[in-house]
Amino acid sequence: MLIVKIYRHFGKTIKGGYLSDWIPICPLADIPLVGAKRFDHKGESYAIFRQSETALFATSGYCTHQRVHLADGEFDGDIITCPKHQGSFAVKSGCALGAPVFKDLQTFAVKLEDGMVYVKLPL
Ligand code: FES
Repeated sequence: MLIVKIYRHFGKTIKGGYLSDWIPICPLADIPLVGAKRFDHKGESYAIFRQSETALFATSGYCTHQRVHLADGEFDGDIITCPKHQGSFAVKSGCALGAPVFKDLQTFAVKLEDGMVYVKLPL
């Protein structure tokens, strides 16, 4: 278990103090190219986005406007658009890009090792 006070990833700060070890999510082949996949861990839901052959980004799973899962949205390779009211977020930074979304997504570190995708999550 890795213990940190503040974790920075793509310019975002996640406070909370504790991060998991790398959590195995799925084989890379399970995530569509320029697509998204939902995953759940310890009662929380997340989304992982595959921008290119090996570029991956993980965010909190639900839109910050209402409880709609972003893995069901439209992903163009940089931006995820919510399926309900078309609010959009930059997947690298988690930044909300305008009305009706104003609160950013959390982002999480992702690594690819031997064809398996791993993510670090808050404990
Ligand atoms: S629920 Fe996502 S923009 Fe409204």
